[in-house]
Amino acid sequence: MASLSLTQFRGRNLVADSRIRPSQTVNRPGRVGFLRVVASDTRAEPDLSVTVNGLHMPNPFVIGSGPPGTNYTVMKRAFDEGWGAVIAKTVSLDASKVVNVTPRYARLRAGENGSSKGQIIGWENIELISDRPFETMLKEFTRLKEEYPDRIVIASIMEEYNQAAWEELIDRVEQTGIDAIEINFSCPHGMPERKMGAAVGQDCALLEEVCGWINAKATVPVWAKMTPNITDITQPARVSLKSGCEGIAAINTIMSVMGINLNTLRPEPCVEGYSTPGGYSSKAVHPIALGKVMSIAKMMKAEFNDKDYSLSGIGGVETGGDAAEFILLGANTVQVCTGVMMHGYGLVKKLCAELKDFMEMHNFTSIEDFRGASLEYFTTHMDLVQRQQQAIQQRKAIKKGLQSDKDWTGDGFVKESESMVSN
Ligand SMILES: Cc1cc2nc3c(=O)[nH]c(=O)nc-3n(C[C@H](O)[C@H](O)[C@H](O)COP(=O)(O)O)c2cc1C
Repeated sequence: MASLSLTQFRGRNLVADSRIRPSQTVNRPGRVGFLRVVASDTRAEPDLSVTVNGLHMPNPFVIGSGPPGTNYTVMKRAFDEGWGAVIAKTVSLDASKVVNVTPRYARLRAGENGSSKGQIIGWENIELISDRPFETMLKEFTRLKEEYPDRIVIASIMEEYNQAAWEELIDRVEQTGIDAIEINFSCPHGMPERKMGAAVGQDCALLEEVCGWINAKATVPVWAKMTPNITDITQPARVSLKSGCEGIAAINTIMSVMGINLNTLRPEPCVEGYSTPGGYSSKAVHPIALGKVMSIAKMMKAEFNDKDYSLSGIGGVETGGDAAEFILLGANTVQVCTGVMMHGYGLVKKLCAELKDFMEMHNFTSIEDFRGASLEYFTTHMDLVQRQQQAIQQRKAIKKGLQSDKDWTGDGFVKESESMVSN
């Protein structure tokens, strides 16, 4: 049976089925360009599975810490739909100190000609870490691991500047059987007021000390989640890896103010007439996240053996193409948070299908086949200038034909004639 596969990647329609061989390309009447039609062959499907810090996942798609990992019911749903791993909502020892407000989200829409009724491209939240009792979350982690022993559950944790508290937190989450820990050094709102989250991730001396406590205690792999709200994100990433963390996750949300209501003059999201800066996520942050992940990946490649350390790309992922971009920069896994809030848990099926389409298009059979492949194409601006000057010189040198009739010579006459023939 002939099969057709037409997949959209970031606004471009690509024929993405590499079972199609060039020789089988056919023109189709009534179409601009062409569609390629083939009979399916027996080539194996691309393998999406990854092994990261010794943890095996069926695919690289991980639920990012946030509402999609708040309780047993939703985490179970994530596994049932096929997510590679789940990172639970960040927990701390004393949830009674965590008091949320509503509304706590505000969205940015972009339509044609600047209309505010279009697609959601940006999402701000002023949500804190989990406000559910720690004991409850621990019981739910245990139940999840009992029911899904082969699936990867990662606890996201955060504590105050207190070694004993961090040690107790790590000890108790590890007792549930979770597979790894992600440290939230990055929440930009609310928690820094208590010297937590981004307050640690933005201060490399503090970060080194806290990472030291954590890594002396933890017996499972530890990922440090970075804040983008810092001048050079490679600095805390380097400190975290040097202090014993096995992986880096980037990015958490970007400090933002969603907007001001021009009728009431009050900021959004508006709680009793007031607001506080929040964290920005979704499609609009994707290019910023790619930039940060690229910087971290280059640093890891240059200074650490990048085979032993892992990198998890986060920010604005809604398509398989978005995920492929993070992997091309060196990410082992890709996290999705706001995308799940907008499209539901079934999004993972689309992500897997689109990532496979991309891999088939390039004949990649595994994630490792293309992980980090685009990193070498980033260079300095000065190097770009030199490359362009060289390329112009080369194009000039091979320019076909004579510039003017005065350039004909007697000795080179035949060659000069040939240089202006088209076939
Ligand atoms: C409503 C909301 C709550 C979040 N809560 C947490 C959290 O508890 N811990 C954490 O590490 N990150 C949290 N995040 C950040 C996300 O995990 C992620 O880093 C960020 O939103 C960028 O990815 P995205 O564009 O896929 O959402 C939250 C994000 C949102 C939108």
